[in-house]
Amino acid sequence: MKKFFVLVCILLIVSGCGKWNNHQERITVYSPYPRELIRSLLNDFEQTENVKVELKQGSTQVLLREIHQADEDELGDIVVGGVLSEMIEHPDDFEAYESKNQKYMKYAKQKVPYVSDFILMPTTIVVNKDLIGNIKVRGYKDLCAEELKGKVVYSNPLETTTGYQHMKAIESINHNVDDVKDFMATANKVDKSSKVIQEVANGKYYAGLSYESDAKAYINKGYPLKMIYPSEGTMLNHDGIALVKKENINPKSKKLINYLTSKKVQQKIADEYKIQSGRKDVFNQNKQVAAKFREIPVIEDDDISHLTRKQFLELIQWYQLNLINVWLENHYLSLLYYRHF
Ligand code: G6P
Repeated sequence: MKKFFVLVCILLIVSGCGKWNNHQERITVYSPYPRELIRSLLNDFEQTENVKVELKQGSTQVLLREIHQADEDELGDIVVGGVLSEMIEHPDDFEAYESKNQKYMKYAKQKVPYVSDFILMPTTIVVNKDLIGNIKVRGYKDLCAEELKGKVVYSNPLETTTGYQHMKAIESINHNVDDVKDFMATANKVDKSSKVIQEVANGKYYAGLSYESDAKAYINKGYPLKMIYPSEGTMLNHDGIALVKKENINPKSKKLINYLTSKKVQQKIADEYKIQSGRKDVFNQNKQVAAKFREIPVIEDDDISHLTRKQFLELIQWYQLNLINVWLENHYLSLLYYRHF
């Protein structure tokens, strides 16, 4: 009997501790970054802060929609990655918060009060070297060439940061949405940014619209890829971190934001992942990487459409709907033709 009593007490203590740990020492991060990038940063934090960090991955807009639709008890804690200052359509889903390190960022003032600056991520073109042959690809215009019709891929601008930012870049060349229209008419859309790099790497497409760290990761894996910063202008994404608004914000979430924007972690991101830190006091130790970054023909802020995300998407989405109408018209007329003759 005594043994049974002791066993019950041990089980109660263990389950109680488990519950205590679950409640106090567990946070959930939403992130569109590839697992190999974000998971290693979170693992380090878990060790230093003795907290369990769960990761929910997906395209930026899919994650933001999940947050908007979640009940309070299902809500995670912070979003890491994505151009959140552009992508967040429901600011009330997030808590205004400025990381302790914002003053060290390249942009000392937050674009919006609920997003802390994190890192800078150029959007890039990737080309399959085994397929492209002697077709010249220096920028977006080259991707619209006749010989590349149907052989270029991009991710859905409605769901992904990457697709959206590339369409903004194309529009910024001549401030003309027709350029976006011409590109969409000749290229193929996929639902995830990760599929773009996969399908170019595997040879399904000759070229695609991706982003620097994904392209570099696949090149380092040995795929026959070449990364190009669009010559007409390269969009430099200001990736951010946002704190999800909820009744009980875990203090560890704010600690994680300050950890990810700290000089130590930002230097690790720059050195180990060759990613451009968002801090003005962190430099790539690799001189080659630093020089390459300085040569990128970054699009000036003034040249980027100031439409809101919703307005810009309506502008190009109309075109996508129109594209369907054009397709139906052509096919319907040919159906009529065959029926009639
Ligand atoms: C862009 C952003 C990154 C993001 C990546 C994938 O490159 O700069 O922060 O991780 O897109 O996000 P997406 O929504 O395109 O899957």
